[in-house]
Amino acid sequence: MNLINQPIKINQYTIKNRIIMPPLVCFNWADTDGFETIDRAEHYGKRAKGGTGLIIVEASAISEEARIVREEVGLWKDEHIPQFERIAKRCHDEESVVIVQLVHAGKAAIGNPVYSSSRIELEKKECLEMPLEMIKQVKKDFVSAAIRAKKAGLDGVEIHGAHGYLLSQFTSKEVNKRTDLYGGSLDRRIQLSLEIVKEVRDAVGDDFIICYRLGVNDPSSEEDKYFAKKLEASGVDVLNVSAGIGANDIEVPDDFPFNKIVYMGTVIHDVVSIPVACVNGIREPEQAEYLLENNLTDLVAVGRGLLADPEWTNKAINGLPINKCYHCKPRCKYLIDGRDC
Ligand code: FNR
Repeated sequence: MNLINQPIKINQYTIKNRIIMPPLVCFNWADTDGFETIDRAEHYGKRAKGGTGLIIVEASAISEEARIVREEVGLWKDEHIPQFERIAKRCHDEESVVIVQLVHAGKAAIGNPVYSSSRIELEKKECLEMPLEMIKQVKKDFVSAAIRAKKAGLDGVEIHGAHGYLLSQFTSKEVNKRTDLYGGSLDRRIQLSLEIVKEVRDAVGDDFIICYRLGVNDPSSEEDKYFAKKLEASGVDVLNVSAGIGANDIEVPDDFPFNKIVYMGTVIHDVVSIPVACVNGIREPEQAEYLLENNLTDLVAVGRGLLADPEWTNKAINGLPINKCYHCKPRCKYLIDGRDC
């Protein structure tokens, strides 16, 4: 496995190989005040020890109202810093680079009422249009959480712009019906994400990784590509590409040997110069190698595979057999009993 084991530079950091752990939230792992209830340093430390080059710690809420569920790990107050400090230390001891994903769930958030880009009924939930004052606060909350991540000794943050959460609700023309400066044209719909990137960059300085989880809606349109280039120009160091809103209709060319989410990543990889990560259903080292060999991606994210086998990366590099992930339905078995598969 030659190419998996090649280092790559992101910002000032050398990632020792091309395998990354994408964010994998474990809802039953926190109390209702954003504090972890299990030893997550051990959880991530094991994956770091197993050779993973870059670890992205699970979605962590930027404010209490931003949470997807009440039992979600938070980074909205200074008291949350030590639980990330422990993770940073453990991963660094194993020579992995480690960042944390920051999220505002928007329409999927807890709370009543909930706010989205527009007043709209989504998944049977009535959402109010987020007022400008609240948008300002959301930006501040992203910035404060990023500063806390830096204080914790993490190497960067990933801003969650995918999977139908708040920032994809702004980007999507189906959801965003605003008539102010954050709605209408594509430039206006992506404005909030770009402002957050710029404000986070100003606050954390140049030497801190900013990753953006880009939720692609339709790779055949120019919109996602345009947005990716704008993110690059705004100071994003790396893109972790996944699904956005409306991505279900995407068609993958017949000769493309992966699913549509991986395909979206490869399309974005073609149009930007910063590193891009592809993800979804990649289980075999040969698949990762194929993507790298054909210059379809720079980084390969292995999610459930790394839950099933923390040693996935080292085993892949050394050609050893890997504990298989069977992509259990409805959700990952790992999360149900909290033990390694
Ligand atoms: C996820 N995913 C996810 N994505 C994200 O952006 N933030 C998150 O916190 C989570 N949490 C999460 C939990 C669980 C249990 C699963 C299965 C998935 C999506 C994840 O990062 C990844 O994109 C998918 O798991 C697909 O990759 P794999 O697992 O097929 O390699």
